Amino acid sequence: VVDPRLQGISDAIRVVPHFPKPGIMFNDITTLLLLPGVFKGAVDIFVERYRCMGIDAVAGIEARGFIFGPAIALAIGAKFIPLRKPKKLPGEVISETYVLEYGTDCLEMHVGAIGPGERVLIVDDLVATGGTLCAAIRLLERAGADVVECACLIGLPKFKDFYKLNGMHMISFLVTA
Ligand code: PRP
Repeated sequence: VVDPRLQGISDAIRVVPHFPKPGIMFNDITTLLLLPGVFKGAVDIFVERYRCMGIDAVAGIEARGFIFGPAIALAIGAKFIPLRKPKKLPGEVISETYVLEYGTDCLEMHVGAIGPGERVLIVDDLVATGGTLCAAIRLLERAGADVVECACLIGLPKFKDFYKLNGMHMISFLVTA
């Protein structure tokens, strides 16, 4: 059974061809954020799945994981941990570099944000290659955390709606072009 809220969510996402570079179909969630009922529906879909899973922390990936992650964390009574691009966090950090189509990027997390055995959910707006999520998983596991799942609102069709990412459960609620 398909969740009826997903059609409204899909309709509210603007797809921008050739952004930020030729050949890329950019899924722009800012148009969804302008519709409070649709935005709430998107957050609620995460909350309904994770509220009873004993999640201690939601880790959101910069930048668009910072839009959905805190709302989900507050609703399920978990702390929020920002996973940031390099040189943004002021305290001591651990870092994970990952490979992009051209070059590399890096995610950082504050040391002490999460401890051994704490149960964490990783949240982002979209998964494309999965490289960013893999880096996030490595970062959290290095800190000793128990990564319960990765969840994105949008998944590109090369990944099915539910699949394994380096052995980690991954879910994307909406599969798009
Ligand atoms: C996008 C998206 C994910 C990542 C997914 O972020 O929000 O974080 O790409 O790609 P992947 O699955 O191939 O790793 P982007 O790199 O555009 O950064 P931004 O959110 O800071 O703009």
